[in-house]
Amino acid sequence: MVKDSLHYSPMVSTLGSSIQAASVVSPNQSLHPLTSRTNSQGHLEIGGCDVVELVQRFGSPLYILDEWTLRRACQLYRDTLAQCYRGRSQVLYATKAWNCLAICALALQEGLGLDVASGGELYTALQAGAKGEHLYLHGNAKSVDELKMALEVGCTLVADSLFELEQLAVLATSAQSARLLLRVNPGIDVHTHEYIRTGQTDSKFGIGRFQLPEVFEFLGRHPQLQCVGLHAHIGSQIFDLQGHRDLVGVLAQIWQQGLDEGLPLQELNVGGGLGIRYVESDDPPSIPAWVETVATAVEQEFAGAGIPLPKLLCEPGRSLIGPAAVTAYTLGGQKRIPASEDLPEGRLYITIDGGMSDNPRPITYQARYTALLANRPQAEPTQVVTVAGKHCESGDLLLKDIRLPDPVAGEILVVLATGAYNCSMASNYNRFPRPAAVLVAEGQAQLILQRETYADLIRQDLLPERLLC
Ligand code: LLP
Repeated sequence: MVKDSLHYSPMVSTLGSSIQAASVVSPNQSLHPLTSRTNSQGHLEIGGCDVVELVQRFGSPLYILDEWTLRRACQLYRDTLAQCYRGRSQVLYATKAWNCLAICALALQEGLGLDVASGGELYTALQAGAKGEHLYLHGNAKSVDELKMALEVGCTLVADSLFELEQLAVLATSAQSARLLLRVNPGIDVHTHEYIRTGQTDSKFGIGRFQLPEVFEFLGRHPQLQCVGLHAHIGSQIFDLQGHRDLVGVLAQIWQQGLDEGLPLQELNVGGGLGIRYVESDDPPSIPAWVETVATAVEQEFAGAGIPLPKLLCEPGRSLIGPAAVTAYTLGGQKRIPASEDLPEGRLYITIDGGMSDNPRPITYQARYTALLANRPQAEPTQVVTVAGKHCESGDLLLKDIRLPDPVAGEILVVLATGAYNCSMASNYNRFPRPAAVLVAEGQAQLILQRETYADLIRQDLLPERLLC
């Protein structure tokens, strides 16, 4: 199936041009970057760049980010929201999915704001050119330093608890007031991995509905806290639109309560959460379908209750960046376990030069992926193989029982849809240097992250003199 879809390839030349929501493939429904195709060499090409050549030039493992796919996803969110919502709107990119200078700058260029979840993400966004008005700082346990930093740069805080509001009431002044959204816990459970569910009542995130009267009362007594809206996020990799419809219903009720308490509410942020296709059988709704669902629900709930329409914000991460990137590895040795009573099919392990340090999602969430060989993407699969990472950990298996053409050491394996929460959760486990990342567009590849070196690995290490031998 991957093979077939590689035949279509709209090579696009005007990267910045706006697009019509109805007429384009929604990147989150595509297994591979939208510019993928097989070139005249019979190799996988992304963004006009031959993936085999990219690995020769930049080494492996290599994150390859397709600029066109990322821009298309930004534009689809932005333009659909502008078209189908009658109030004002703003899309934020949830930078936790992949935060680095180039990606923050690209999202800003597309007119998106940025959701940051730590001082480090905030710092990176600022270095990429973001201003306070573009930024929303999240976190259930923000440090005092992070709160101060946010106040200084004028970013909006997404307040997660009464404790945080009490801290802010001390730090903020009438001259430097805190602009904030209240993160509420809507009590909505969605079907996704338990580690990435956030809106259920028993969650560490958000202010429970039972506590809202106390919080509203506190805000009423502290004019240095400007509560301009509400926020909620129910989870990630969600395929069912009903959760977001329900969420809007709950938020509209809380909004009315807040207005009754005299809060100057203007912005409603419904979070992110739209899922993407990792394997053929995944069937997420499109970006336009998600946006229309949310926009319609907000119009109905607010108009129905006679409340003026809020400025509508959403903050997708995975569905923006996930499908835009792939990871290329070089295949190494193999180990064949013969069939036995315990293992009737036997097993063929094939090794790669990366693993759980560049993609911790399989070992953390049992995530599944799709892969192909970049040097012969059209070859028929002939084998069932398990792709083993090179870490000293049995669970470091990147892909279990996938079908591939008879793999040979030295070939280039490409794992698809690795843009979200791969690089951002990468580690140096076993002292592996983290991979490089390149941005590809129109046949050009530019490094956006340098490959770490062994010297980088010991940059923070200190060796007390008495240990010198
Ligand atoms: N807003 C908030 C407050 C969030 O916590 C998140 C994700 C998002 C927006 C973006 O959600 P998205 O559109 O990406 O679903 N590491 C996990 C995912 C954790 C999601 C954390 N929060 C994974 O690899 O699946």
